[in-house]
Amino acid sequence: MCGIFAYLNYLTPKTRREVLEYLVTGLKRLEYRGYDSAGVAVDSDDGKGITLVKQTGKVKILEDAIKEFMTGHDIDTPISTHCGISHTRWATHGVPSDLNSHPQRSDEENSFVVVHNGIITNYKDVKKFLEKRGYRFESETDTEIIAKLVHHLYLQHPNYSFRELVEQVIQQMEGAFALAFKSKHFPGECVATRRGSPLLVGIKTKTRLATDHIPILYGKDEDNKEKDSATDPEHRPHGAGREVPMIPRTESTSEFQPLEDKEVEYFFASDASAVIEHTNRVIYLEDDDVAAVKDGALSIHRLKKSLDDKHAREIITLKMEIQEIMKGSYEYFMQKEIFEQPESVINTMRGRVNLVNNTVTLGGIKEYIPEIKRCRRLMLIGCGTSYHSAVATRQLLEELTELPVMVELASDFLDRNTPIFRDDVCFFISQSGETADTLMALRYCKQRGALIVGITNTVGSSICRESHCGVHINAGPEIGVASTKAYTSQFISLVMFGLVMSEDRISLQTRRQEILEGLKNLDSQIKEVLKLDLQVLEIAKDLFQQKSLLIMGRGYNFATCMEGALKVKELTYMHCEGIMAGELKHGPLALVDDMMPIVMIVMRDCVYNKTINAIQQVKARGGQPIVICEENDKETMQFAHKVLEVPKTVDCLQGVLTVIPMQLLSYHIAVLRGCNVDCPRNLAKSVTVE
Ligand code: F6R
Repeated sequence: MCGIFAYLNYLTPKTRREVLEYLVTGLKRLEYRGYDSAGVAVDSDDGKGITLVKQTGKVKILEDAIKEFMTGHDIDTPISTHCGISHTRWATHGVPSDLNSHPQRSDEENSFVVVHNGIITNYKDVKKFLEKRGYRFESETDTEIIAKLVHHLYLQHPNYSFRELVEQVIQQMEGAFALAFKSKHFPGECVATRRGSPLLVGIKTKTRLATDHIPILYGKDEDNKEKDSATDPEHRPHGAGREVPMIPRTESTSEFQPLEDKEVEYFFASDASAVIEHTNRVIYLEDDDVAAVKDGALSIHRLKKSLDDKHAREIITLKMEIQEIMKGSYEYFMQKEIFEQPESVINTMRGRVNLVNNTVTLGGIKEYIPEIKRCRRLMLIGCGTSYHSAVATRQLLEELTELPVMVELASDFLDRNTPIFRDDVCFFISQSGETADTLMALRYCKQRGALIVGITNTVGSSICRESHCGVHINAGPEIGVASTKAYTSQFISLVMFGLVMSEDRISLQTRRQEILEGLKNLDSQIKEVLKLDLQVLEIAKDLFQQKSLLIMGRGYNFATCMEGALKVKELTYMHCEGIMAGELKHGPLALVDDMMPIVMIVMRDCVYNKTINAIQQVKARGGQPIVICEENDKETMQFAHKVLEVPKTVDCLQGVLTVIPMQLLSYHIAVLRGCNVDCPRNLAKSVTVE
């Protein structure tokens, strides 16, 4: 979805050419999130105003427009202190267009400009309020009200600081947002804030910082609040049918706590991949934090103390390397991520699975295991691929935990107002850790007293922060919109959880032992599967002009059918269905004839005979299945029109190996059909709206 990148250099001279290059590169790192237009704001030639460059389409088009702007402008004079903001927009309110793209502005003078991720739900009320005061709107966005409201407040309260103005603004906002502001009235300053949409601040200094924490400054005690001119009803926007009182002003600017370094650069971004090439020192902002940089000093403010406030924000050191977010020698990020799986599964298990003494330790949930063991049931909740990882491991978790395990799509779970109890343990599985449906489901369960376990790939994400405990899958950054390595790492994380839960069950020791053996060999077996690449390409050449594809299997491999079908759909725009082989006779068999392309997954597990029945039914209707089966399984191969052989592992891990040919198949079909592999149409990497 949308991406924010802002850059502020304080006493570190940079030309505007360099600043623009930083902004464009930052946006390129966020491209994978999905977007349809982009824009930047920097100081104007005389340093007294703001220049906006905005374009519909790819960042490359914006880059060309910026190059055009550069000719005829003085962009090579170094500026000691400067703030630039930029954005990739995913259209929600209004079509993709230059006018609707961000930064949005307050007025023709560009006095205040803002970039915004998220949706403001009460924007119509605020817009009416501003229109009554003479503001004319030029875009169809919800964001424009933010730029205009901050301007309105500035005119009413010229003695307010930039940060105070933004604090006033966000009190009037309902919905979700991450925002970064720039203003010609506050040169060299940047204010950023978030509620429900991620935002981090990267810090780059010449010498190591003297502190690892930025203390939070709070607003004045509500009880002692002074009457302020801002409470004048004349200056209040009206919320949906009710008046929204203006808040009292908060601390004076003298309470800013400067970092003990004079020359400093700050980066504000919606995710770490945009800042990692500049700095690995970042602060993840919490909801309602207002981060302001003034005179080179960063301070973080909150209006009110809440019970779980930590009083400071920690500067953390990211472990991510720049190579992880570059394509290297691969054509596409998705291809790179598929081929990274031998290493990513090892990273998921690193420091957790001890193959010498057969133990598994999950540090993030260790203390909660006794409570989990006492629970009434386990709920596994997610969307898309993350949901499929729950489907893939449900059977094993039922076996190893001996608890009822419910698997839920987050959106459907919320639609049903599913009953949740204090003794439920709810797992929220999410690569990004920001998926709105999953996050809403998490909050729903938390409110009802359930224990919340997050399974995420993104350190500092909302799901990660709002969970009681959790497991980082450590798959490394996943840039391709289609999830691949995160799936196999989520799968393994849930298997590890099952192993932890069954550690002291005598009757399950043989089973645990075979699973641990399976985990030990998984990376080398994945490497074997990846060698099928050229064979899969040949199959893709047969299939890429087809309209439809059915993928059938059952038991442990049904999840591979659903996940494979999702990959084919999203990447190739071809109709594709994952079918539970046991359901064939109940309808889907009617689709089968000698023209219908079919993939069948037939493994030698406890449902083998039943799956062979299914394949025979398909053959009897003229079907010509492409079969994914175990290496050297000649008996099964006789039913196949074409075969992809994968190494045998323990039944419950086989899905890690069978999904890889499906990832490769969808990738090759997408390339052959000329589709945008890393950014499929209409899709975004991080789905932060419901
Ligand atoms: C499919 C895909 C999506 C995501 C889904 C949930 O390839 O990537 O289906 O799995 O949007 O996203 P996360 O895991 O970030 O919650």
